[in-house]
Amino acid sequence: MNKFQDAQQHLQQHRYHWLVTGAAGFIGSNLVEALLRLGQRVTGLDNFATGHRHNLELVREAVGAAAWDSFAFIEGDIRKADDCARACEGADFVLHQAALGSVSRSIDDPVTTNDTNVGGFLNMLVAARDARVRRFVYAASSSTYGDHPDLPKVEDRIGNPLSPYAVTKYVNELYANVFGRTYGMESVGLRYFNVFGPRQDPNGAYAAVIPQWVAALIRNQELRINGDGETSRDFCYIDNVVQANLLSALAGPEAANQVFNIAVNERTSLNQLYGMMRDLLREQFPHLDAHRPQYADFRRGDVRHSQADIGKAASLLGYQPTHRIGEGLRQAMDWYVRNLAPASAQDR
Ligand SMILES: NC(=O)c1ccc[n+]([C@@H]2O[C@H](COP(=O)([O-])OP(=O)(O)OC[C@H]3O[C@@H](n4cnc5c(N)ncnc54)[C@H](O)[C@@H]3O)[C@@H](O)[C@H]2O)c1
Repeated sequence: MNKFQDAQQHLQQHRYHWLVTGAAGFIGSNLVEALLRLGQRVTGLDNFATGHRHNLELVREAVGAAAWDSFAFIEGDIRKADDCARACEGADFVLHQAALGSVSRSIDDPVTTNDTNVGGFLNMLVAARDARVRRFVYAASSSTYGDHPDLPKVEDRIGNPLSPYAVTKYVNELYANVFGRTYGMESVGLRYFNVFGPRQDPNGAYAAVIPQWVAALIRNQELRINGDGETSRDFCYIDNVVQANLLSALAGPEAANQVFNIAVNERTSLNQLYGMMRDLLREQFPHLDAHRPQYADFRRGDVRHSQADIGKAASLLGYQPTHRIGEGLRQAMDWYVRNLAPASAQDR
C-alpha cells in the first residue's frame, strides 16, 4: 500500500475536523469534495471574490446528502481577523487555499492582492495558532522561483520574484516559517505548479490557460497564445494536489515547516498543450479542424519555463502523482464538455 492509500484508509477510520479556506474556488471545492467522501467533518470559508456558490452545489450533488451534512459553510473574509478566528474554532487541520490568484491581476492591482494574500494569510496563521490546530497546510506557488534559471526547480534554489503575486506567495512561506520558530506552529507549504481540472473557472480576464482555452475551443472562439508558444509549464491535475494536501496534513514531523513542489516533473509547451487539447475535442467538435491559435505579445511577469523536481515531496510526504498531463486533460475535458457544451450548441 502506498502512503496515499494509507492516508485514505486512516481517514476512513478517523474523523477529523478540517477547515478549507477558499472552499468555493477551484482547488478548495475539490478538497472539500475529497474530504467529505472520506467521511470527514469540514468547514469551508470563502467570500466569493473569485469562487462560486455553484461549485459548492456541485460538491453537494457529487457527495450526496449524508456526507453533505458534515459540511458547514462560513461566508467570510480572511482580511477580517474575526472571520478567521470563527472559522478555525475546533479545527484539527487547516488547508488554506483562499487568495487572489493570477500574476496579471496582481500587476493590475497589487494592493488588493497583497491585502488578501499577505494580510489575510497572516490573519489565518494567527487564528490557526490560537485555535491550536495540528497542522496548517497552505497553497504556496511555483511563481516563487521567479527568475532562477535552473530546471527542474528544486525547493531551496529560488530567484527574484517577477510579479507582486510572486512576492505575496514568498512572503507566505517566510511568515509560516517564522510562526514555526517563534510559536512552535506546524505548517506545510505546497508550491503548486499550474493546477487544472474540473471547476476551474473558464471566465474572466484572469482565467487560467486550460479552462480559458477549453471554453474557446468548444465555443469556436478566438484563442490567444501569449508569446511564441514555446513557454512551458509543468501542468498538474487536481487529483495530485488533493493527494498532496492530505498527505501534508497527516505526514510525520519531518514534513513540518517545509515547502514542497507539487507537480509531475514534466514540461509541456503552450503549443503542445494547444495541440493536445484540440485533438481531445476534435471528434466531438468538428469545427476544430479549421481552428488555429492567434499569437500575441509575451505577458509581463511570466516565467519562461517551469518544471518541478518532486523528489522532496516523494521522500518526505510519500507523494506520487497519479495523473500526468494527458490523463488529467482527458478527465478535465470530459467535465468541461458536460458543463460548457450547452453554450457551445447555441453558439454554433
Ligand atoms: N490554480 C493554480 O494553478 C495555482 C497555482 C499556484 C498556487 N495556487 C494557489 O492555490 C490557491 C487556490 O487557487 P485556485 O486556483 O483554486 O483559485 P480560485 O480563485 O478558484 O480559489 C480561490 C478562492 O479563494 C477565495 N477568496 C479570495 N479572497 C478571499 C478572501 N479575502 N476571503 C475569503 N476567501 C477568499 C475566492 O473566492 C476563491 O473561492 C490560491 O492560494 C492560489 O494562489 C493556485
